[in-house]
Amino acid sequence: MKEASVVIRSARNVLGSLRVPGDKSISHRYAMLAALARGRSHFENFAPGADCSSTLECVRALGSGVERGSDASVTIDGVGLQLKPAEHALDCGNSGSTMRMLAGILAAQPFASELIGDASLSRRPMKRIIEPLAQMGAHIDSIDGHAPLRITGNKLGAITYRPPVASAQVKTCVLFAGLLAEGKTTVEEPHPTRDHGELALRAFGAEVERSGNAVSICGGQELSPLQACVPGDSSSAAFFLCAAAIFPESNLVIDGVLLNPTRSALLDVLTAMGCRVSMLRVEEQHGELVGTIGLVPGMGRHVTISGSQTALLIDELPVLAAIAPYTSCGLEVQEAGELRIKESDRLSAVTRNLQAMGAQVEQTDSGWRIPGGQKLHGAEIESYDDHRIAMAFAIAALRAEAETVIHNAQCVAISYPSFFEDLERVVER
Ligand code: S3P
Repeated sequence: MKEASVVIRSARNVLGSLRVPGDKSISHRYAMLAALARGRSHFENFAPGADCSSTLECVRALGSGVERGSDASVTIDGVGLQLKPAEHALDCGNSGSTMRMLAGILAAQPFASELIGDASLSRRPMKRIIEPLAQMGAHIDSIDGHAPLRITGNKLGAITYRPPVASAQVKTCVLFAGLLAEGKTTVEEPHPTRDHGELALRAFGAEVERSGNAVSICGGQELSPLQACVPGDSSSAAFFLCAAAIFPESNLVIDGVLLNPTRSALLDVLTAMGCRVSMLRVEEQHGELVGTIGLVPGMGRHVTISGSQTALLIDELPVLAAIAPYTSCGLEVQEAGELRIKESDRLSAVTRNLQAMGAQVEQTDSGWRIPGGQKLHGAEIESYDDHRIAMAFAIAALRAEAETVIHNAQCVAISYPSFFEDLERVVER
């Protein structure tokens, strides 16, 4: 992809209403399960980013018919629980979700597959899925726990797995493998994580049990195709909500957005920071809550995020940290070491970029301490080819004095290709 820099000028306010593209986490899962269902599934508002395109290309290579409409619709003709061998290595691009969740499905197929990714994905840890899948009987070769993954499909047996880290990708990987294994597979998480894997399995007709932090699935259940509209991505909405939160006169409405409680912890944080958050027209769609969010800013208190809250906010932490200097009382984030192994080392990327803007920030082993009430200046920002870093600092730039240049800003296309255009629509100068 060609490198592009984007200039962000300071703003006066954030005002108006918008919709954000379909949720990335749900789109990945719907596409993979549609491939395993027998018959035609159809999705509206499917996530437009490169990550979900990687998933669609993989399921196409594994024998499903995939057709994309010009209007964010996707039709998938699934082949049933047994997929077809791909003729080439499956390219997951930058997408950890594609590689980790698809590995669970491929481990149980009666053929061999290879999963490859870009330089960033090839640095990310895969032992976290290789270990449980190996316990189920899978055979996976890797380069010391990293991609490429060479998977020799096998008959899998059920396990009860307690992952050492709270990861929805790991949970979903094991549940997808469990769908194809013999017996009842259980995943018991140390902290709750996003539950789209469970909800999507149910939406496609599988029975999934939940008891506390444990989720179980019996293998061999056939899936039925699904017709669904993917709710707006709450992690994309987070950038606009945080933008609105830093201008006293803002008034922002986001329609048709995902309100799943495992994805909406940001609303509690913004409320603690003094914002008035309202939810309207909330309804359930295939197990997922969807509705309208309104946000009006205000003065609040200091916020500390740690433990189970960290796991639920993992994708929102970069933008929260990026706006923290402008809040009245500041922010502390603890136990967020997972940020180091995302698309970039997000802990360091945020620290460096905040410092470039003149912010006072203390980076700890697994988080930051960021005092509030600071004034930042425009700066040269490095995205580290990480979509969430580029977007987080586009938001911080809105309240900085003078212009900010975001380098390598094209990476927003991983999750949100029209991010900069949508931002301009709600920003007042
Ligand atoms: C995701 C889970 C999270 C998140 C990622 C999407 C998912 O990753 O950071 O963007 O869809 O399950 P981990 O499971 O590695 O925490």
